[in-house]
Amino acid sequence: KVDCYPEPGSSESGCYSRGCLWCPSNNPGDPWCIIPDGGKSFLLFNDKYGYSMVDAPVATANGYRITLAKIHTTTLFGDDVDTVTLDVSFDTEARLHIKFYDAANERFEVPLPINGADATAPADPLYDIQFFNDPSFYFQVIKKSTGTVLLDTSLGGLTFSDQFLQIATRLPSTTLYGFGENEHQNLIIHNFDWESFGMWARDQPPDPGANLYGTHPFYISMEDDGNSHGVLFLNSNAQDVTTTPAPGLVYRTIGGVLDMYVFLGPEPNRVVEQYNTAIGTPFLPPYWSLGFQLCRYGYGDLNTVKETVARMDAYDIPLDVQYGDIDYMDEQRDFTYDTSNYAGLRDYVRELQAGGKHYVIILGELHLSHWDMTDPCITQDDPPGTYPAYDDGASMNVFVTTSDGFTPASGKVWPPGKCAFPDYTNPDTETWWTDQCMDFHKTINFDGLWIDMNEPANFVTGSTEGCASNNLNNPPYMPKIWGNVLAEKTMCPDHRHKLGNHYDVHNLYGWSQSNVTIKSAVASTGKRPFVISRSTFVGSGQWAAHWLGDNNADWHDLRMSIIGMLEFNMFGIPYVGADICGFNGSPSEELCERWMELGAFYPFSRNHNGLGYKEQDPAAWGDEFAARSRAVLRTRYTLLPYLYELFYHAHTDGTGIVRPLSFEFANDKTTATIDEQFMWGAGLLLSPALYEGIKTVSAYFPDARWFNYYDGVEVGARGTTASVDAPLGTIPIHVRGGHIIPTQEPASNTEISRHNPFGLIIALDDTGSAAGDMYWDDGDTLNPIESGQFAHFTFNVQNVSQNICSTSIMLGMVMGSLRIMGVSSPPQSVLVNG
Ligand code: GLC
Repeated sequence: KVDCYPEPGSSESGCYSRGCLWCPSNNPGDPWCIIPDGGKSFLLFNDKYGYSMVDAPVATANGYRITLAKIHTTTLFGDDVDTVTLDVSFDTEARLHIKFYDAANERFEVPLPINGADATAPADPLYDIQFFNDPSFYFQVIKKSTGTVLLDTSLGGLTFSDQFLQIATRLPSTTLYGFGENEHQNLIIHNFDWESFGMWARDQPPDPGANLYGTHPFYISMEDDGNSHGVLFLNSNAQDVTTTPAPGLVYRTIGGVLDMYVFLGPEPNRVVEQYNTAIGTPFLPPYWSLGFQLCRYGYGDLNTVKETVARMDAYDIPLDVQYGDIDYMDEQRDFTYDTSNYAGLRDYVRELQAGGKHYVIILGELHLSHWDMTDPCITQDDPPGTYPAYDDGASMNVFVTTSDGFTPASGKVWPPGKCAFPDYTNPDTETWWTDQCMDFHKTINFDGLWIDMNEPANFVTGSTEGCASNNLNNPPYMPKIWGNVLAEKTMCPDHRHKLGNHYDVHNLYGWSQSNVTIKSAVASTGKRPFVISRSTFVGSGQWAAHWLGDNNADWHDLRMSIIGMLEFNMFGIPYVGADICGFNGSPSEELCERWMELGAFYPFSRNHNGLGYKEQDPAAWGDEFAARSRAVLRTRYTLLPYLYELFYHAHTDGTGIVRPLSFEFANDKTTATIDEQFMWGAGLLLSPALYEGIKTVSAYFPDARWFNYYDGVEVGARGTTASVDAPLGTIPIHVRGGHIIPTQEPASNTEISRHNPFGLIIALDDTGSAAGDMYWDDGDTLNPIESGQFAHFTFNVQNVSQNICSTSIMLGMVMGSLRIMGVSSPPQSVLVNG
């Protein structure tokens, strides 16, 4: 069934007026107004809905072109496109592209280049596609090796109208991952009882059911035989997806085109690689940014920052990055700092850097008088000549305008008065923004940029003047988003960007700001850039990291962070983490300790706290807490060479870093729903303690050899659950037989630890073998791979080979230890270098 009345207010007469079938049902969630499918499901109702092929598919250089004519006479939301063109291209052996568009009228399309299509059709694709006209047009995508039908749009309901586009597909199984950004409550896999997720970037703490900061219309479906495929809907309009019991899903968007990419895997990790390679693989972060990071909204003054860092140092808790949140600014204006409460910031940043630490600043709204660089909206109210950021920006026309195309639209965010929103889709904005960053860098020598509130957030609905009443601001169908108003907490959809209406490009705001800011960061620092963004879209991972936003300091959000982290690894943004110990609220000591343990295994490991809550940095709780945090972070630092290697693979091949167990053990059905454990790469299994009061964790061990990371002892369990000790201060970690994990002795920050001796953990599998690799470079030069300034080693248990090596990088690297796990009888002698 496909809902013919997806908006509220469904009624029998309304249903018939759409030419649909009224079918009351006792099953909760079932739609009562159903799109007719030509008598397939309802024998008595022979009306047809959708499109019909005008002629046979026409072969093109790498696929087919099909012309479709609308067959229904009624309409759901008006302005149906009568003739729709469908282009199908066989992009690569493992990738199929399916695009419905209006050949007669240009419509908005996401300007993201999709990489890697072959020049000619692949000789032997993994898939086949078949087209049908019975009773209306549908298609099936079939995995050739197994005959499994991956996509099947015979559910009906295909709609292409100006402001309502819909496609429904049957899925091959009920194991479905993805879609975002939402906090998914029903485990990592979705249920099929008409669950809906809205996608429209929103300044929204992760509440159940809400559409959050970013938009990722991508799913991975795992077929019953363990094979997987993924599907991207490349569209940036407000949209939603609803699961159905078929099992199936209905995808709806209110603009653009229906543009789908199918990734054939067949292994789930390959799907992630194929997807990430297509949309742009993640950036290689500077090594220091893999260290522990500390932030707080509302330190209030520099002395408090200094005291916090000093107590971290006194306890010798590893710390690489200190942040400046908006309170370092002068009245929260981007590109300024508070010269009274933060007097001396300039020198302090240099002092931190001299000690091997780094400093990252937030950037946000722009006022109209002084430069403040916290969030994107820039203040407009300061007298001309007093806030150069606005004056320069205004003279360069870099701001988003109202629908008249020239008046800067006014919003309200952190800075006092009204503010304007830079339009990062305008090439002139890049020049202006980069100039501001470079200029401010002369004052505060920041190492990285944190871009926030870039949904973009607005504290008034639409603008300080409200929004006009028109089809863009009030579309006929409202996707299932919170507030049911597109302009809520953001700009009016009819505001204008260089690239198009806010209606079309809203979800690209943080994405375009990330794309520009990474260049501004390079221009400012001259080093490998670090940018972290709250709002993201398909492809953002090339330019920015992401944190999961303003979570709560509670056990539920501790657990939810694993799902968020796993999903962003599917979305091509593996550099992700949640605010450790929670942003809203003050955590209990036990919760914060457990969060330090889990957070030590977020790729982005930052303790961050909201305004007015109790101090929660790991040095704030006294000796025992500090000692435990120190220990768990030293474990992280020991494993950083492994994490860096995973980032190298993410960057070069698009592989996920943090992976669900099911992606490594796809044939083990038990793993499909596991989201309280996760893997780092293929080699490490993490089983954190996530419930109050527990001292052991019931962990699942798929069928492999597993060794306790801490003492090397083999776990007896294989393909079963076992109880593992997790006293406070310990996160259970197990090394998977067959893997070699590069390590390094930890230190107070990575600048120091990078000079320490390396080690290898070698965990043997059933056949006595193990393999692994390691990537190394100087940690922060630009483009080390392109310039050959790196070393890459592959290891197996018999030998070590250096396949690529820059001698300057190798200088000073010392091998300090080998830990071999799983040796059947104790060695009688050990030889080193012969
Ligand atoms: C937003 C951010 C949060 C930040 C605060 C103040 O709520 O999500 O991380 O601390 O703004 O800048």
